[in-house]
Amino acid sequence: MGQKRVVVGVSGGIAAYKACTVVRQLTEAGHSVRVVPTQSALRFVGAATFEALSGQPVHTGVFDDVPGVPHVAIGQQADLVVVAPATADLLARAVAGRADDLLTATLLTARCPVLFAPAMHTEMWQHPATASNVSTLRQRGAVVLEPASGRLTGADTGPGRLPEAEEITTLASLLLERADALPYDLAGQRVLVTAGGTREPIDPVRFIGNRSSGKQGYAVARVAAQRGAEVTLIAAHTAGLIDPAGVHVVHVSSAQQLQDAVAKHAPEAHVLVMAAAVADFRPARMAQAKIKKGPDSAGEPTIELVRNDDVLAGAVRARAEGQLPHMRAIVGFAAETGDENGDVLFHARAKLHRKGCDLLVVNAVGDGRAFEVDHNDGWLLAADGAESALEPGSKTLMASRIVDAVVAFLGGHRE
Ligand SMILES: Cc1cc2nc3c(=O)[nH]c(=O)nc-3n(C[C@H](O)[C@H](O)[C@H](O)COP(=O)(O)O)c2cc1C
Repeated sequence: MGQKRVVVGVSGGIAAYKACTVVRQLTEAGHSVRVVPTQSALRFVGAATFEALSGQPVHTGVFDDVPGVPHVAIGQQADLVVVAPATADLLARAVAGRADDLLTATLLTARCPVLFAPAMHTEMWQHPATASNVSTLRQRGAVVLEPASGRLTGADTGPGRLPEAEEITTLASLLLERADALPYDLAGQRVLVTAGGTREPIDPVRFIGNRSSGKQGYAVARVAAQRGAEVTLIAAHTAGLIDPAGVHVVHVSSAQQLQDAVAKHAPEAHVLVMAAAVADFRPARMAQAKIKKGPDSAGEPTIELVRNDDVLAGAVRARAEGQLPHMRAIVGFAAETGDENGDVLFHARAKLHRKGCDLLVVNAVGDGRAFEVDHNDGWLLAADGAESALEPGSKTLMASRIVDAVVAFLGGHRE
């Protein structure tokens, strides 16, 4: 992605300091960033900080720098506007179409994607006035992020926290990669996602694991939640990923625990996305004490393996038996390599047929591809024989394509 012009609007909430990290991350990604704070925002963070971080002048009013007509020019020239944090007041002013400061004037002149990251106390977030403003902004095509839950100003906790800066910049980058990536089209759908790699214990300190980082599954959960779904994420081990905002996260370790969590949550779900790398085999017994090396004469231990249940095939079977009354789409993942019998797609088609899921996301692995990295590519296979390529891009872009396919599938299979 080449250099883009990104406006970071900052309004006057306690989370304004986190906007500094957003600005830093966007400039480090190579973008030209113009910070437009409100007057109130400057009560929390000084203009000098934003000027130093962005390398550009910072104004709040429409009468600052009149010859440059910034109240029109900044919005017109922007490729993306991110407002983080967006206060209840700023959301209300944006809905009303006010233009009484530089940020609201910029919002009126911008024709690019606009992303609001609201942050406020739970009571303010849940007030019908704010809820209605958020809904209006979404109807007008803006992306309004679900806030995270957690500690707010003072001792309170609840929904209203600004998502982590990394999450905001990830979604901002998605909007720059693909302008229509976050329509609000999954409202009312319960989506269950599994992610990460399981660990099968050998003894109290050792396990059999795999190289899944969880990034692709986390990205699917994040994108689905921001498109309006109620998302539960069953997370096995990951590379220290942050829990996506607005997502209910259930942490598990072994394949058995993951299977139990899927069995618990699947009966409520409309969509299941199985992105986790679940171990096919586990040690038949876990040693209760650490297996000692001992003298050379003691020889090498042998670990006997037994087969784990296939969670994806189990979900397909449970649906066929009527145990998952709401389930409308089951998505599997296949990390494949070609061999003497056939190429990646040959094996993937066989897997789709074997597992019986509705959609299969296929990644070619090996040579540093797919695992642990931030980029991905592959194919999307459907049970009806449709096949499409997933062009190379970030795992968030890939997630948005996968969610597109799910939305299209749901559209073709109305209840
Ligand atoms: C210490 C403090 C923290 C505040 N935090 C928030 C907040 O997190 N979210 C919010 O919507 N308003 C918050 N407010 C209220 C806003 O600052 C106030 O509504 C202001 O008018 C917002 O102006 P602006 O939207 O033009 O930036 C806070 C006020 C104070 C004094």
